[in-house]
Amino acid sequence: MTDFVSSFWAYFIAIMTAAGIIFCVWLLFTQRRWLGKEVKEAKNTGHVWDGNLMELNNPVPRWWTVFYLALCVFSVGYLVLYPGLGIFNGILNYSTAQEVKQSQEALSERIRPFYARYEAMPIEQVAADPQARQIGERLFLNNCAQCHGSDARGSVSFPNLTDKDWLYGGSPDQIMTSITKGRHGVMPPMSAQVSANQAADIAQFVRSLSGLASDPLQVVRGKQGFENNCVACHGVDGKGNQALGAPNLTDDVWLYGSSADVIVNTILNGRDNQMPAQEGVLTPEQIRMLAAWVWGRSNSPR
Ligand code: HEC
Ligand code: HEC
Repeated sequence: MTDFVSSFWAYFIAIMTAAGIIFCVWLLFTQRRWLGKEVKEAKNTGHVWDGNLMELNNPVPRWWTVFYLALCVFSVGYLVLYPGLGIFNGILNYSTAQEVKQSQEALSERIRPFYARYEAMPIEQVAADPQARQIGERLFLNNCAQCHGSDARGSVSFPNLTDKDWLYGGSPDQIMTSITKGRHGVMPPMSAQVSANQAADIAQFVRSLSGLASDPLQVVRGKQGFENNCVACHGVDGKGNQALGAPNLTDDVWLYGSSADVIVNTILNGRDNQMPAQEGVLTPEQIRMLAAWVWGRSNSPR
């Protein structure tokens, strides 16, 4: 497998690597006369510093030359067996990706017994099981907390997972899909359709949807702008669309913040926000455990 867009770079690297080894061997070859006999007396170059500091012309020690030659032989052997020469895989067909996959499968196999108990349980029940909650929390702290916070309440651009406000839906299945496949929320920049003044009006209207302080005149103008530009994704009533991940704009829950400036910025410049897919990182059993824990956080009475 290769990430190169054209085979040129593969050949470039292969040729540079081979040329490097050939150069080393050639260099050693030019020094070969020292291989034959140990030199008794070193030549003096005649350069003297500080009265008694002389520059001699000692040959490279023989052990060093032999060692270097052995390295060249080793590297040729390595490049024949393992990947390293451009896109040539080596005759052993070794790949680190495959090794990761194998060790993941082995891990999955090893932890299966721990998860077996929960496989048949509905997720709601798993969420209530104290031991499952512990496993879920540990998995969350290791894999999710760096973005969503150790309390899962998120921060700017990282959604709070403990509330009832969901970009993509809060059913166990929807949460599991979010984790397994990742999510990519894109709001296109609207600066081509909407002027800065219009954006300021629309921002006041958006604030009014959540009952926040807003300028009444701007709200009236902004409503029109919202209907022209935003309802396709955020809905006529501003309640959003979970199929697109377009947030509900009426509940005073904010991914980026409620200030007029932030909303204007979102309108003019758009947003591009990504949750990385976990299916290559975590096993299906671990993902189910996490989904249960997240679902439990948002549905426990507190
Ligand atoms: C690199 C940062 C990052 C990591 C790590 C991460 N997430 Fe996310 N997650 C996000 C972002 C950003 C979003 C919002 C995506 C969007 O706006 O479209 C998100 C969205 C979500 C959603 C959807 C929320 C909703 O309102 O519908 C869930 C559920 C979720 N993450 C759970 C998890 C779990 C569980 C983990 C750990 C396995 C995790 N995330 C790891 C960044 C991350
Ligand atoms: C093509 C669909 C689309 C259109 C059109 C669109 N949005 Fe969005 N908007 C989204 C998506 C998707 C997100 C979430 C981005 C993310 O996950 O980070 C979003 C996010 C937002 C947010 C951030 C909400 C928060 O919780 O911080 C605001 C505010 C917003 N949009 C307002 C608007 C306004 C006002 C318009 C019209 C001028 C508009 N959007 C047009 C799809 C759209």
